[in-house]
Amino acid sequence: MSDRIKVLIPEDRINERVRELGSQISRDYAGKEISLICVLKGGVYFLTALSQQITVPCTIDFMCVSSYGADTVSSGDVKIKKDLDASIEGKDVLIVEDIIDSGHTLACLRELLFSRKPASLKICTLLDKPDRREVKGFSPEYCGFVIPDVFVIGYGLDYDQRYRNLPYVGVVEQDSSAD
Ligand code: IMP
Ligand code: MG
Repeated sequence: MSDRIKVLIPEDRINERVRELGSQISRDYAGKEISLICVLKGGVYFLTALSQQITVPCTIDFMCVSSYGADTVSSGDVKIKKDLDASIEGKDVLIVEDIIDSGHTLACLRELLFSRKPASLKICTLLDKPDRREVKGFSPEYCGFVIPDVFVIGYGLDYDQRYRNLPYVGVVEQDSSAD
């Protein structure tokens, strides 16, 4: 069985949107230094591209969290698998994430990072699926694309750890007739 992939957001549209977000963030944080925090593994491609479009000083750090017990559905509690290397106290922190689905992962992460007393804390996500939101009133300050309730892959997003390296965002269509 092989997977057929339908392109949802082509590479050039992503690149254009990343440039726009980089400009907007650079304007909003003028005169400040941004501590970019990437949520591994999915956010790594977006962080890399976005950070190259940011013109104010910035640092990068990485965090790896996972939802307890869940498969493709998020359960509401996150486990820290890798913590940040540096303190974020007094820093202007921007969390860079691949996608917001139920919102549980980022809501928990935001609460955890707030407790470390940053000067400010915002979220930048490449994709948002608001139809799937379970955490009420939760929305990112910066968003690349709002997408419908479909399971997507590429540009960091995986299906069973595969497809992260695709330069576009696609939808997997399982093709049971092929091998
Ligand atoms: P949450 O439901 O907002 O907590 O999302 C948890 C995580 O599930 C995201 O950070 C992604 O890693 C993953 N995820 C959610 N939707 C998708 C998808 O459509 N494709 C791939 N991963 C997804
Ligand atoms: Mg993720």
